Amino acid sequence: MELLVVCVYNILTEKRDEIKRKLGEGIEIKKILVKSKDKGRKYKVDDSLITLNYEDIINDPEIQIIVELIGGEYPALNYIKEAINNKKNIVTANKLVIAKYAEEIFKLAKKNKVKVYYEGSVGAGIPIIKTLKESMIANKIKKIYGILNGTTNYILTEMIEKHVTFKEALEEAQKLGYAESNPYFDISGWDAAYKIGILSSLAYETFIDVNSLHVEGIEKIEKEDIEISEELGYSIKLLAIAKNINDKTLDIRVHPTFVSQKNPLSKINDVYNVVQIHGDAVGDIMIYGKGAGEMPTASAVVADIMEASKSIKYKIENEQISNGVNGQKLISIEDVENAFYIRLKVNDKPGVFAKIAKVFGDNEVSIASVIQKNRLTPVVPIFLLTHPIREKNLKDAIKSLEKIEDVIEVKNIIRVEDF
Ligand SMILES: NC(=O)c1ccc[n+]([C@@H]2O[C@H](COP(=O)([O-])OP(=O)(O)OC[C@H]3O[C@@H](n4cnc5c(N)ncnc54)[C@H](OP(=O)(O)O)[C@@H]3O)[C@@H](O)[C@H]2O)c1
Repeated sequence: MELLVVCVYNILTEKRDEIKRKLGEGIEIKKILVKSKDKGRKYKVDDSLITLNYEDIINDPEIQIIVELIGGEYPALNYIKEAINNKKNIVTANKLVIAKYAEEIFKLAKKNKVKVYYEGSVGAGIPIIKTLKESMIANKIKKIYGILNGTTNYILTEMIEKHVTFKEALEEAQKLGYAESNPYFDISGWDAAYKIGILSSLAYETFIDVNSLHVEGIEKIEKEDIEISEELGYSIKLLAIAKNINDKTLDIRVHPTFVSQKNPLSKINDVYNVVQIHGDAVGDIMIYGKGAGEMPTASAVVADIMEASKSIKYKIENEQISNGVNGQKLISIEDVENAFYIRLKVNDKPGVFAKIAKVFGDNEVSIASVIQKNRLTPVVPIFLLTHPIREKNLKDAIKSLEKIEDVIEVKNIIRVEDF
């Protein structure tokens, strides 16, 4: 078993008396499932608890709470469903399973009169699920902004502070253990997408189809984008965004974003995570902390175990990630309005900019500012900022731009968030 399991085990055993005092009764670990008994293990737990057989756990009538820390889709999903069918309460930190299968899992839990807890699945130890579910229950949630992936936030911070390339920053993150050897899930934006999907389901009382979200990663960010963003008074962040446009439509997406340096989100650096929520009664709140790591995640997992124990003891009725009542639709990214940053590579010839300006004008894209640099070379970069426009108009303009002979390449397009 690995470190997260051991951290949960350690907290539950070392704080046994404290937990008993706080809950009014103790929590006993009955079994720990692992894949292999022979694996050379760095960490020690009571060997008599270890089993290789899942049936030992789900068929034990004394076990009331099963903690799933296997990770991944399978067999975790099947184990969770089997456990629920056997009337076990579930605690999990598995964002993938909760984000993709919330509807199935929570409907099954309701049918079986058990509960599913998942605080560790978003933001590790940051108490964001409980905040949305309980503390903000009297609010209509208008917007959620999150920096929900520590790896990408670390890479972008390195690129800003040390002027290194994406590749160099990624290698450094891997060396420090912040990025996995296959970093796809983090840098592609999908880790953050699963997390904003979970938060949105809760905030907007609907089941979100995470596969339909618009998701972009940070792979295309180059040093030039970082330098210009800083010059213009922004920082580039991988933002997870969820907005209630009206009672029928939600806008949920993940992409690199120009964030004004006046906004506190621009100051959240390194592996830290943050969630900023706007509720109609409370206004803006922000929750900030380490969004990864075994000990912070174990803190959330143990809190969920204690919550589950309280619910069992006091026979508190079922509650859902979402009761799915609202059923709002997702707005298509083409209909979302944003300002945009655009980086072009063009031939430095008279009249080129006039052609570019005409294409934008024809597509109702209004330019807010233009920066042109390195005029001593025949090929120059041009950086543009637009006023807020519908994404479809920008895409049409870009298609026409690409047909202009002297426009060599559209290097990057990044949305600018107006908070
Ligand atoms: N680690 C973190 O900082 C963190 C933070 C937030 C959320 N999470 C979530 O927590 C979950 C676990 O992550 P992790 O990093 O702790 O994973 P991990 O290091 O790979 O540990 C997984 C554990 O599950 C056991 N396991 C895996 N497949 C199994 C199977 N088929 N049957 C029985 N046991 C199996 C492994 O047994 P062996 O020991 O025999 O291999 C190991 O003990 C994931 O959903 C992850 O997204 C982790």
